[in-house]
Amino acid sequence: MVAIVEVAGLVKRFGELAAVDDVSFMIRQGEVYGLLGPNGAGKTTTISMISCLIDPTAGSITVDGHDAAREPGALKQSLGVVPQEVALYPTLTAAENLRFWGSMYGLRGSALDRAVSEALDLAGLADRAKERIEKYSGGMKRRINIAAGILHRPKVLLMDEPTVGIDPQSRNHILETVKGLNAAGMTVLYTSHYMEEVEYLCDRIAIMDHGRIIAEGTLNELRDVVGGMDVVAVKVAGVSPGTLDRVRTIEGVERVEGTDDVLEVLTRSSGSIMGRLVSTLESEGAHVTSVSVTEPDLESVFLHLTGKSLRD
Ligand SMILES: Nc1ncnc2c1ncn2[C@@H]1O[C@H](COP(=O)(O)OP(=O)(O)OP(=O)(O)O)[C@@H](O)[C@H]1O
Ligand SMILES: [Mg+2]
Repeated sequence: MVAIVEVAGLVKRFGELAAVDDVSFMIRQGEVYGLLGPNGAGKTTTISMISCLIDPTAGSITVDGHDAAREPGALKQSLGVVPQEVALYPTLTAAENLRFWGSMYGLRGSALDRAVSEALDLAGLADRAKERIEKYSGGMKRRINIAAGILHRPKVLLMDEPTVGIDPQSRNHILETVKGLNAAGMTVLYTSHYMEEVEYLCDRIAIMDHGRIIAEGTLNELRDVVGGMDVVAVKVAGVSPGTLDRVRTIEGVERVEGTDDVLEVLTRSSGSIMGRLVSTLESEGAHVTSVSVTEPDLESVFLHLTGKSLRD
């Protein structure tokens, strides 16, 4: 399969900060490619450079054969962008917003009418097309935001955390929309800090942290990074930072991450550490209510590679 997006040696500096620090990847035609990373990882900065909104400090970008530095106009025609911040006019109706964005992409007359009507169907909001965006729920706005990105039927769709802060119903609608667009042939770059979403949607995933890609592959390839390990999840009350440090010294414990009431312990020997784990916690005055062992997921991969949790 041919590469439709190629990014090589991409760097973006804001003063001292390298927000994107030597990032390279390629996306094959027809793939859903995931960019997974916590707040500040550099996802939006990467998307902004690919969509020619900001210039890279260094590196090259090609989309559908068009180089971002030499042919930004042609590149943008191949690209649809769903920005992290909803880009709609609150006092205009959904249909008016879509007409505006469609005309920005050069659509006119019956082609524009058709594109707007199809986009409203895709958003599942054709019956509310004449309502002002300010009356829409957050999830509905996000669905129209996505519709606005695909009006001109781009070959490649960039989606920047399209499901943040919305209800489960709209989230499911959006995930199924991505699946449907991809099944119809669209290549998608999907950024998120929700590992469940990239696990569900993406053919390949790059894990990003501090401006760098720290791992890349299919879900199974990434799981191999923590191959042979288990995650021991301990429900516990009364854990102090000192307790975590004690747990880290237990032989067989690779990584430990804790929230208020759950400890996640990455280990190659879940069977043999369980007893010491519980007795250490109890001796530190913590109260264990349950212990379970699960298969590693992308959260475990991130924990293993960075020593921190993706969730916070
Ligand atoms: N215009 C800017 N000027 C200065 N610093 C910036 C600018 N834009 C982004 N940054 C910094 O670059 C880093 C990466 O930001 P970016 O928005 O790309 O992260 P992100 O992965 O999209 O995070 P989030 O999940 O919170 O959206 C952050 O430290 C951010 O503060
Ligand atoms: Mg962002």
